Amino acid sequence: MTLCLLVGITLTAGAKEADYLLSTPNTTLCITAEVGKPLYFRYYGSKAEVGDIRATGRMLKYDAYPAFGTRCDAPYASLVKQHDGDNATKFVVDKVEKSTNGALTTLSVWLRDVAHSNLVVKVNYSAYNDCDVVKMNTEYFNNGKKPMVLQKYMSAVLPIQSDNCVLLQLDGSTKNECNEHTMPLPVGIHTIASQVGSRISQYNNASFMLGLDGKLEETACPVIAGTLVWMGNYHFEFHNTHIARTPTLFMGGINPAASDYTLAGGKSLVTPEMVLTYATNGKGEATRSLHRWARKHQLLDGTKEREVLLNSWEGVHFDISETSMVDMTKDFAALGGEMFVVDDGWFGDKYPRNNGTSSLGDWCIAPSKLPNGIRPLIDLAHNNGMKFGIWIEPEMVNVTSELYEKHPDWVLRHPDFEPTYGRGKTQLLLDLTNPKVQDHVFSVVDDLLTQYPDIYYIKWDNNMSMHNAQSQYLPKALQSNLTVDFTLALENILKRIRAKYPTVVIQLCASGGARLNYGFMPYFQEMWTSDQTDAYHRVLIQWGAMNFYPSNMLAAHVGSAFSKYTQRFIPIKYRFDVASMCRLGMEMVPAKLNDAEREYAKRAIAEYKNIRPVVQQGDLYRLVSPYEGKRDFTSLMYVTESKDRAVLFAYRHLFKHDMSNIIIRLQGLNPDAKYRIREVAPEVAGKPVKINGAVVSGRVLMQEGVVIPELVKGFTRNAPLGEVRAGNDFRSVILELTEVK
Ligand code: GLA
Repeated sequence: MTLCLLVGITLTAGAKEADYLLSTPNTTLCITAEVGKPLYFRYYGSKAEVGDIRATGRMLKYDAYPAFGTRCDAPYASLVKQHDGDNATKFVVDKVEKSTNGALTTLSVWLRDVAHSNLVVKVNYSAYNDCDVVKMNTEYFNNGKKPMVLQKYMSAVLPIQSDNCVLLQLDGSTKNECNEHTMPLPVGIHTIASQVGSRISQYNNASFMLGLDGKLEETACPVIAGTLVWMGNYHFEFHNTHIARTPTLFMGGINPAASDYTLAGGKSLVTPEMVLTYATNGKGEATRSLHRWARKHQLLDGTKEREVLLNSWEGVHFDISETSMVDMTKDFAALGGEMFVVDDGWFGDKYPRNNGTSSLGDWCIAPSKLPNGIRPLIDLAHNNGMKFGIWIEPEMVNVTSELYEKHPDWVLRHPDFEPTYGRGKTQLLLDLTNPKVQDHVFSVVDDLLTQYPDIYYIKWDNNMSMHNAQSQYLPKALQSNLTVDFTLALENILKRIRAKYPTVVIQLCASGGARLNYGFMPYFQEMWTSDQTDAYHRVLIQWGAMNFYPSNMLAAHVGSAFSKYTQRFIPIKYRFDVASMCRLGMEMVPAKLNDAEREYAKRAIAEYKNIRPVVQQGDLYRLVSPYEGKRDFTSLMYVTESKDRAVLFAYRHLFKHDMSNIIIRLQGLNPDAKYRIREVAPEVAGKPVKINGAVVSGRVLMQEGVVIPELVKGFTRNAPLGEVRAGNDFRSVILELTEVK
């Protein structure tokens, strides 16, 4: 890492002294940092020279890191209470540093508080030279001897020159995650926040998109998208005041609610990174920039292929037995599966895990369920050419467990109150601020992998929010450090695990997708998108999640024909076609498939392996949204970087008599190339849709589009597949496009 002082260096044409530009391939961010003066935010938009930004009136002059105390009528990003109670701050620039680390260049502006010499804040702006992504965060230093209390300590402040923004955000709940909501940015202060402590994405997500010109379109209009890299409580504020000359203001960072952070003398706190992208060509481009960056720089093994797996949960729930596991392993191998994962229900000696009321914490094999342990299951998977994975929930304990009997003081709870319990009315969250608990959580993974080094995959679950936000370890005076220290402790545990086990694949799950956040990505290769396996419901969830999260990290499993959650029947082809848009897996007892379904599943898995490089690594283009228009159809596609291969997914959900078809206009292809179209995994082998085999130019496919008549037909083309018929509902087609050279 190089470090050089840049104060006063003019960096680009038209720039004044102390104007600093940071650029990505297609975007520019500009600040003005003059020693002794406030730090000003000037511009974030498409690539431009300072002279042009100034000449066109696009240069803002807004306090880049406003603090409480000097302009108390304006939004503030920083509120610090000194030891004597004084909470007014006036920041001025002390120095500016620039450093480069690989593709990343960082400008660090040191702000000092003119009123209190102990308080220093470093504001970091970083830009990538290979992705259109910039990052912002801050570091708080207490250079004095006495403690200070950080009451608001945001990571990022982004003034936006638009008073007509359209906001996209994700909301939902368990089995209904990531609903896409688009609305005009309300006047006043709009917040997106989480205070649940551990399952931080359960109700909403630390991500947003803003269309800047009164619209938020897929392929046109300027868009800013952002996401916070933080495993704990987060807080976004959008100030839309409509006061002349006041820009729309975004701030993001750690949620300050009940989180006054005591910073001892000589200590510092690094706030999480806010990741931002600017797109001139709509939200599709913003999504692709975030996905590319995630795969390249943030997600563990982001460019490595993911396996097709069978998870035992929906098939047998807690009924784990050697026979059921052996049968599932063999049956899945016969379908072409690549990994078998034993989910919840395999552990607990004194208290075997038969339901959600006991055993979390006792991570030893339940002899009553698996008398021969898991070794035979691992060997069986290997002998069938598959890998083996297992479920844990290491941050938790049930009151009915040997762990709790030994260490009742390891849980989060107030010593004087009866705690609020989670699942099974006995579950509690362990107090990760306690170093002994940190060792325990580390050892859950370490012991398993030491004993069974050939475990390839772990599903790391978390089924409880921080209901009892009281630490039995932290002193009373530091209780409000809990939410931050808990998150930092979790990160330390994960770092320890990854230092020792860099390659084991770990899936993150939290009652489904309640931990979808960029903060987890360096430690987990994938996340369980949702417990909702009804394929139609999943279209909406996956579509929403993929606004920000790339397909290769989103686990999508084919459940049984009848969804116990929605009481809906869905045929096998549609179920496979929905799961195949992300990381494909299955979640059922394969022996329950009938012959036709089994034959279909085999073909679908083989075909997925074939299109997998495009689905897992390609650029996503959204074509027909399930959230817009008549909502009868959904279509999206992936295109390789070189544009020589693409895969198109098209779904028609509910059937209407004589319904009109849609024209699907493709995107992202090479207009001058010709593409051969092939149907992937047709419903009936050897009977593909009519368009199969056609060779069409990229230009026509994009400008004129395709119509697939089979999508709207009212009768199944052939014998129905499945235990049940879904009538005419839920029809789908996958097309592979290969450039004809
Ligand atoms: C959570 C997960 C499920 C499953 C169960 C096991 O609900 O989301 O996928 O692992 O726990 O108890």
